[in-house]
Amino acid sequence: MSSAWSWYVTVLSLANILACVWLIRWTAKKRPGEAAASDTTGHEWDGLKEYNNPMPRWWLGLFYITIVFALGYLLLYPGLGNFKGLLGWTQVGAYEAEVEAVERDVAPLFAKYAALPIPELAKDPAAMATGRRLFVTNCAVCHGADGHGSRGFPNLADTIWHWGGAPEQIEQTITQGRTGMMMAWGAALGEDGVKAVATYVRSLGGHAGDPAQVAAGQEKYQTFCIACHGPAGKGNPMLGAPDLTDDYWLYGGSEQIIQTSIRDGRQGVMPAQKDLLGAERIHVLAAYVYGLSHEQP
Ligand code: HEC
Ligand code: HEC
Repeated sequence: MSSAWSWYVTVLSLANILACVWLIRWTAKKRPGEAAASDTTGHEWDGLKEYNNPMPRWWLGLFYITIVFALGYLLLYPGLGNFKGLLGWTQVGAYEAEVEAVERDVAPLFAKYAALPIPELAKDPAAMATGRRLFVTNCAVCHGADGHGSRGFPNLADTIWHWGGAPEQIEQTITQGRTGMMMAWGAALGEDGVKAVATYVRSLGGHAGDPAQVAAGQEKYQTFCIACHGPAGKGNPMLGAPDLTDDYWLYGGSEQIIQTSIRDGRQGVMPAQKDLLGAERIHVLAAYVYGLSHEQP
């Protein structure tokens, strides 16, 4: 955060403190003018008159103490972000010290978890409670609080994997991130080709279509698609190319949507978590994700 904001807050605070000083000094004296000559201010309510007395000194004294305190506080804890006080205290520094203290507390726990293989760890209720908290904080925005995903964001609680569901594969997905690269085929196939190949792809998942279309689509499929999705449409976890025969669709399985997937391509991005979370937390998360599709007795 730029120090301009800290200056802004500091100047505003100082102006307020000075205004208080002025106000207190003003109330410390008898009111001047006409009223100065008499004992009352001239204000009167139903026979009650307001005396023209200054505030009691002990009471003003308390105000002065709060002002001295405010000035002292401003000098010691001046502002936002990295703005330093007389003690060298900063908000950022205080935050970092707190994070460090928490890290010190949890480090032995994560070190213990790091030594356990993922399937073992998935059976440890305490580790899974930690995993769940990490998941809700870091992953739920995209994959849902229960890991069931939504269109474009894969369900992690089922047994269908684009990038593989083995413990090491899950851990690598989270650590390195993944980008599904399915280019647009509209230009290469033409609109008729897109429709035919979509009909063929749907037939792989058990949705019967016009046999002539299916045959034409299959021919195109063999030319353009097998490199990634395989000759039988079973996919390839090395490329994140989905199995097209399981009737599970990341982007939707209607004719229209499959045509769109083929015509325009798809590039789903799973962001790498390595630098955000570190290896030990990722290990616990991988176990949590693994556990979602491997019910523990
Ligand atoms: C910004 C959204 C986003 C966030 C945050 C996110 N993911 Fe993902 N994740 C995705 C997308 C999109 C994919 C699918 C990538 C693709 O199309 O291949 C994915 C894929 C995955 C996969 C692979 C699924 C498969 O079928 O192989 C796993 C495992 C996964 N994410 C776990 C996590 C975990 C654990 C976290 C939290 C640390 C997380 N993700 C955070 C968007 C996200
Ligand atoms: C270079 C490899 C590659 C080629 C070639 C390729 N695909 Fe894909 N395809 C992918 C990947 C990777 C994804 C997943 C994209 C993502 O996760 O965002 C995908 C996704 C899809 C989907 C969406 C699946 C879903 O779950 O919603 C369809 C449909 C599809 N491809 C059909 C085809 C067809 C038909 C062809 C041939 C015309 C083809 N693909 C060629 C890699 C490829």
